[in-house]
Amino acid sequence: MSKQFDVIVIGGGPGGYIAAIRAAQLGFNVACVDEWKNAKGGPALGGTCTNVGCIPSKALLQSSEHYDQAGHHFADHGIEVKGLGLDLAKMVARKDTVVKQNNDGIQYLFKKNKVTFFHGRGSFVAAVDGGYAIKVGEESLVGKHIVIATGSNARPLPGTPFDEETILSNDGALRIGAVPKKLGLIGSGVIGLEMGSVWRRLGSEVTILEGLPTFLGAVDEQIAKEAKKAFDKQGLKINLGVKVGEIKKSKKGVSIAYTDAKGEAQTLDVDKLIVSIGRVPNTIGLDVDTIGLLLDDRGAIIVDGDCKTNLANIWAIGDVVRGPMLAHKAEEEGVAVAERIAGQHGHVNFNTVPWVIYTNPEIAWVGQTEQQLKAAGKAYKAGTFPFLANGRARALGDTTGMVKMLADAVTDEILGVHIVGPQASELIAECVMAMEFRASAEDIARICHAHPSLSESTKEAALAVDKRTLNF
Ligand code: FAD
Ligand code: NAI
Repeated sequence: MSKQFDVIVIGGGPGGYIAAIRAAQLGFNVACVDEWKNAKGGPALGGTCTNVGCIPSKALLQSSEHYDQAGHHFADHGIEVKGLGLDLAKMVARKDTVVKQNNDGIQYLFKKNKVTFFHGRGSFVAAVDGGYAIKVGEESLVGKHIVIATGSNARPLPGTPFDEETILSNDGALRIGAVPKKLGLIGSGVIGLEMGSVWRRLGSEVTILEGLPTFLGAVDEQIAKEAKKAFDKQGLKINLGVKVGEIKKSKKGVSIAYTDAKGEAQTLDVDKLIVSIGRVPNTIGLDVDTIGLLLDDRGAIIVDGDCKTNLANIWAIGDVVRGPMLAHKAEEEGVAVAERIAGQHGHVNFNTVPWVIYTNPEIAWVGQTEQQLKAAGKAYKAGTFPFLANGRARALGDTTGMVKMLADAVTDEILGVHIVGPQASELIAECVMAMEFRASAEDIARICHAHPSLSESTKEAALAVDKRTLNF
């Protein structure tokens, strides 16, 4: 006998679990199916984000930053540290505890919101009267609406599968047992920089091989340049414009043959290699063919602007569809879809989805870059303010970077904000809100910001748009 639901969500990552909770809040009878297993084989809700993504990476970034600060920067504050040591096993165990707290938190939220949870792989069986039949192990479910939120997987290099011992995806990169003397990474994107930073701070000699000739091509050029300067100073070796060739494993580690930007043949020998060259949408085991659900040539489920697939009452959200692969984008789509199922007007504004890279300095942005505005022929004004001129940044001892604001030359509407520097991840929230409310640069310039705070730099960047900074 099938169990009937108004809404079945397949995938319990940030897209899926949030969609399930919002649908339950709206009065639907909701099930969520998720197959992720913890080390004991039990459920581990939260998907990539909670288990091998956002949360564990930020836990290790924080711990490794503390270590780096204690080893190299506390002395600037007059604090002497003697006998500094690293207990990597404890650091990794702390990260695992943080992950578990988040896994358990989602289970609690499901109970609180009366979402029925099924642990296992959900596969489509058929379209049936009143919805779609889904199989989860021995269980048969029928849902009137299905929300697919099955996420993404790390993309391996062709012919070089992940073994998670020497050739690591994000999963293995988050549980290396001893600090590698030499660590290689392929791809200087978000994971390359975050994971490269973690292991550099803990003592590895880190080399990143990047295929493109430009560093962080999607980031505003001025900001990317400033960030690159900081990473170079830290000793993170980033080789741009390389072509990766044969990768050979040996008892000692991995040997990577590549051609450098000058066209010369090189070899990089490392103990471990992290491959971070992007992620692919995941529909493994969903059996989409049984119902005729359409995928694009990248393997992403085809959806329209409202996350509707080609089949009635089947929706798809998050990493498994087009758009940025970000947890908060997946969450927003989850909420919007639940509201659309309820006949409401759920909405996601893709122009105001922020990006954050949690390195030191942090990099955060929202809206358009200067090069995008130039390419579009848009008349704009730019204002920048360096943290060097901010009192709080000086007090923190962290004056790298700047806030850069771009506004429409005619209306003064904010078109983009780009930050590299301390707490950029938090500072960007004000800018996202300003853009969501279609604020002008002058609106920000006229708002009272607490002193001394890093947020005064955002106000000053807004003043700089009108060429009237007060502190620079
Ligand atoms: P996922 O989180 O991938 O969840 C999908 C879930 O569905 C998984 O639990 C999976 O097991 C389950 N599933 C799949 N198929 C089935 C099936 N057939 N049946 C049952 N269950 C199934 N984003 C940010 O915004 N900020 C960050 O700081 C950040 N850091 C990251 C760091 C790393 C190292 C990585 C890899 C990613 C990071 N991301 C970050 C990206 C973020 O993790 C993803 O964008 C986000 O997890 C996508 O959410 P989702 O719900 O679409 O899918
Ligand atoms: P990415 O797309 O950010 O970066 C991949 C990099 O690898 C690019 O610079 C690309 O040019 C390069 N590359 C691709 N193929 C290559 C090859 N054969 N040789 C050399 N270089 C090559 O992908 P990444 O870092 O794997 O992360 C995946 C996604 O996960 C991100 O795009 C992001 O959506 C998400 N993420 C988000 C985080 C955050 O929000 N802080 C943190 C980590 C991941």
